Amino acid sequence: MDTLNPIPQHVAIIMDGNGRWAKQQGLMRVKGHEIGAQRAEEIMKAAQDKGIRFLTLYAFSKENWRRPKMEIEFLMGLLSSYLDSRLEKIVQNNIVFNVIGEIQDLPDSLQKKLIKTMEASKNNTGLVVTFALSYSSRREILLACRKIATQAAQGELKPSEISEETISGNLYTANMPDPDLLIRTSGEYRISNFLLWQISYAELYITSKFWPDFTREEFDKAIEDYQKRERRFGHTCAAGGGNP
Ligand code: IPE
Ligand code: IPE
Ligand code: MG
Repeated sequence: MDTLNPIPQHVAIIMDGNGRWAKQQGLMRVKGHEIGAQRAEEIMKAAQDKGIRFLTLYAFSKENWRRPKMEIEFLMGLLSSYLDSRLEKIVQNNIVFNVIGEIQDLPDSLQKKLIKTMEASKNNTGLVVTFALSYSSRREILLACRKIATQAAQGELKPSEISEETISGNLYTANMPDPDLLIRTSGEYRISNFLLWQISYAELYITSKFWPDFTREEFDKAIEDYQKRERRFGHTCAAGGGNP
């Protein structure tokens, strides 16, 4: 292909491999989460520098509640102290902080901090950073179906009027474009219940690097790789021309 794709507007990341990274270093799993959190910060800066508009980070899934209590408490504490120490920087750096998922599942004090950070940054105009917390894509779709069914039952919408836009518009991601690029670290070839509807035409980038080793340089490599991909969306060539 002669021309490169523009920088992706929306990058979504499954930040995986903190535990295996720690094990490899002979450390406790939680140490992997601690370094992983620093990496998330570095990748936010890298995304901002590249002019990416939306960065969506899978930080805690609905299924992750099955982990040991001590690990869950550590992760919640990590997020809480991250928000305490970074709130001002997020606002100063023109970042819009956003959360998707069932935040009512999270500890009350953490919910308050998340809401405070979203409020404080809502008028910013730069990179939109979305943390997926207690997130399940199937639950997100199910909740959207319930909302749409309620509207239909109340006569506000005919079943024949339900479109793809109706569904997209009732997801947590209603105000975002679909991801152009989905990155997964740690070499697993699976989606783990992340943004199932939204990634229908995303380019996938899977690296064997564990999340704590996913530096700005690795992120740059992923973006460069994306820029060389030929996105066809079902057409015969990237420009969308040609006969069917
Ligand atoms: C990703 O790393 C962080 C979370 C899911 C919270 P993991 O904790 O899943 O690390 P591995 O996959 O066990 O190495
Ligand atoms: C996916 O990682 C969820 C997050 C990165 C938050 P997991 O480690 O939970 O996924 P599986 O269990 O390997 O599919
Ligand atoms: Mg994992």
